[in-house]
Amino acid sequence: MLQIKLDHAPFEQVEADVSVVFVVEKNLNHAWVHHKKILDTFHYEGEGVFLDQAHKRLYVGVAHNDVHLFREAACLAVKTLKKYHFKSAKVGLYAAKHTDEGECPLGQTMLAILTGLQFGLYSYEVYKSKKEPVHLQEVAIALGEAKDFNHEIKTLERNLEKLAHKAHVIVEHVNLARDLVNTPPDVASAPYVAKKAQDLAEKNGLECFVHGEDYLKEKGMNAYLAVNRASANPPQLVHVVYKPKNAKKKIVLVGKGLTYDCGGLSIKTAEYMITMKADKGGACAVLAVVNALAHLKAEDEVHAVLGLAENMIAGDAYRPDDILISKEGKTIEVRNTDAEGRLVLADCLSFAQDLEPDILVDFATLTGACVVGLGQYTSGIMGNNETLKNAFEHAALKSGELMAKLPFNRHLRKLLDSKIADISNITPVRYGGAVTAGLFLNEFIREEYKDKWLHIDIAGPAYIEKDWDVNMAGASGAGVRACIEFVLESLK
Ligand code: BES
Ligand code: ZN
Ligand code: ZN
Repeated sequence: MLQIKLDHAPFEQVEADVSVVFVVEKNLNHAWVHHKKILDTFHYEGEGVFLDQAHKRLYVGVAHNDVHLFREAACLAVKTLKKYHFKSAKVGLYAAKHTDEGECPLGQTMLAILTGLQFGLYSYEVYKSKKEPVHLQEVAIALGEAKDFNHEIKTLERNLEKLAHKAHVIVEHVNLARDLVNTPPDVASAPYVAKKAQDLAEKNGLECFVHGEDYLKEKGMNAYLAVNRASANPPQLVHVVYKPKNAKKKIVLVGKGLTYDCGGLSIKTAEYMITMKADKGGACAVLAVVNALAHLKAEDEVHAVLGLAENMIAGDAYRPDDILISKEGKTIEVRNTDAEGRLVLADCLSFAQDLEPDILVDFATLTGACVVGLGQYTSGIMGNNETLKNAFEHAALKSGELMAKLPFNRHLRKLLDSKIADISNITPVRYGGAVTAGLFLNEFIREEYKDKWLHIDIAGPAYIEKDWDVNMAGASGAGVRACIEFVLESLK
């Protein structure tokens, strides 16, 4: 992690090896305007980054005066600077607008810049024999640039410690999810992830229960068991609990934790199998969230339920044509073993409802269709309660994650009908695949929890093999920032 310090001196007087100058909208009186002559000689107009070596200034383009672009720019600044030998840098605090809320309080921009800077440092190098050395250690934030917002600076100063802590916890736990998702599937088996969960729980004073095959059998979680049957590793249902005193609400988070998804007998093609270690992204996200919320001393009781399994092929693999009897008692006709996440989740959602939650949210890399529909960068929000979906969407967008609602409808539901069981695990048509997967899960939500449940399909952003926004190529920790924001702010 970078050392971040706040400096009251005017930007030019703050001491650092290099200055970071954001090139924002041209009509604003930001520092870069004074350097315009130099920039013109280099034909730099705010596209990407430009390092003026003579003056030791790194210019970073920011297309609009928008808090999310400042987060991304701060990340890009550190990502660029870490290749050089600078030990310290300074950056101005800019006053930004929030995209859909008009003016943005300075605290939001501060949080965005703090998290952006830290994200710039992330890399997954565990298996690289030669690690990239990082020289950058300290970044000073100069308040001078936000002089138009002087009245807000006092409030900001009062909250600074809290903000810095929140930024630190967010980054640390997004990175925790990223590290775990990036860990290759030969290492990150269900027992490995379960052990990580136990170690974290012990460190952070949380309760942690790990249930194996016998427990799943005893509870009748046959859909979950069928998916894991061909794996050399046992399934692990992990249940982590954060229980503060006088909690008002109980929030249960469920995560799809396929440590590998080769598709099973309905095997994936070679191309689509690559990156399927990321099919545990939902489980890793909820594990990170419950630990982060404990660090942030959230007021609500939070449970994380990780459905860890592996979808493989062997003589005892479950097959298309099998009929599974789920924990809820509903029978499922298997018509495609690659639609396995919904089978694991059906039983995990059943387990989760036994905990009697006030809010129930599942996170899953569930469908390729969600990626086709919304693009790689956006998660899909589904559920029966419009207000809850809106609250989650709002929290996600505020946190810097892209999410959009996908509506259920009764016509799509009919496509899941089975001739010989209560429901089929796929539809005969491909269209609307993200929604039909959500509707499948909805079948396992009891009447009293219908309005308390949300399903978040993170298949797009969970793992992308190139850098984007504040994410490096690989796992992004999708769902972590959104869910932290949702619990802390929306449920107050
Ligand atoms: N894990 C995949 C979904 C996925 C696809 C995640 C791409 C991340 C990126 C899931 O288990 C799956 O294979 N879904 C199938 C469902 C189909 C058989 C109905 C899919 O999306 O093709
Ligand atoms: Zn699959
Ligand atoms: Zn899957």
